[in-house]
Amino acid sequence: MESFRNRLDKNRIPKHVAVIMDGNGRWAEKHGRARVFGHENGVESVRSVVEGAGEIGIKHLTLYAFSTENWERPKPEVEALMELLVHAIDNESELLMKNNVRLTTIGDLSKMPLKVKERLDRCIRFLNNNTGLNLILALSYSSKWEIINAVKNIVNETIDGNVKLEMINDKLFEKYLNTAETPDPELLIRTSGEFRISNFLLWQIAYSELYFTEKLWPDFRKEDLFEAIFDFQNRERRFGKTSEQLTM
Ligand code: IPE
Ligand code: IPE
Ligand code: MG
Repeated sequence: MESFRNRLDKNRIPKHVAVIMDGNGRWAEKHGRARVFGHENGVESVRSVVEGAGEIGIKHLTLYAFSTENWERPKPEVEALMELLVHAIDNESELLMKNNVRLTTIGDLSKMPLKVKERLDRCIRFLNNNTGLNLILALSYSSKWEIINAVKNIVNETIDGNVKLEMINDKLFEKYLNTAETPDPELLIRTSGEFRISNFLLWQIAYSELYFTEKLWPDFRKEDLFEAIFDFQNRERRFGKTSEQLTM
């Protein structure tokens, strides 16, 4: 079977793909190991997908790495995930540089341990002038948090007189989200066979195509990304219109 990569329409590569990387724990269980083993192996999937996204010219890739709700997991797992993050940043930054990748984050970074924040800041600065893929890590992220935050900031600006009530529309609102600089994802992928959004980019996925796969995250590779994009390219995005209107 020919690779999905060769079957992609190069002119219709989505600008922004978002991924809910799920199933690390179940993958570890399947291999008779502790959950952390799954998280460790998930790093290889991140490497492959980041590389693949760059190769086909995706501009923005958002990876859901840690949700606000994930803080409620057992302390040892949270600590292991934070350690893993520090190591991943240290180990991957040279390769990201080589691949011309830029790094940004969304989420409530104030909740992250100082050590993680420092490493992230350093890595972001290091990759700052790169012009290839923009890799966006969602860390301590929840969409409801992001939206409430935006509302608070808009209300403040309204009180200060900088924003008038009649100015508030979707374009203005988007400027107050963490994703202000990024177009909405055309495609959202979730691994591990769960059919839910888990508080991820609720506003931004209003018109995204959703793609669910049974694959557990540590088994997911760039070829799986290409398959998801192939599937995406064979859908008709009508945005409320009729099929006939689109061909006019
Ligand atoms: C996703 O895998 C990684 C994070 C949420 C940090 P999980 O850890 O949720 O794995 P499962 O869903 O329990 O298999
Ligand atoms: C969503 O996965 C969050 C991340 C992938 C970081 P979870 O495993 O935390 O979500 P639920 O609990 O299945 O909804
Ligand atoms: Mg999960």
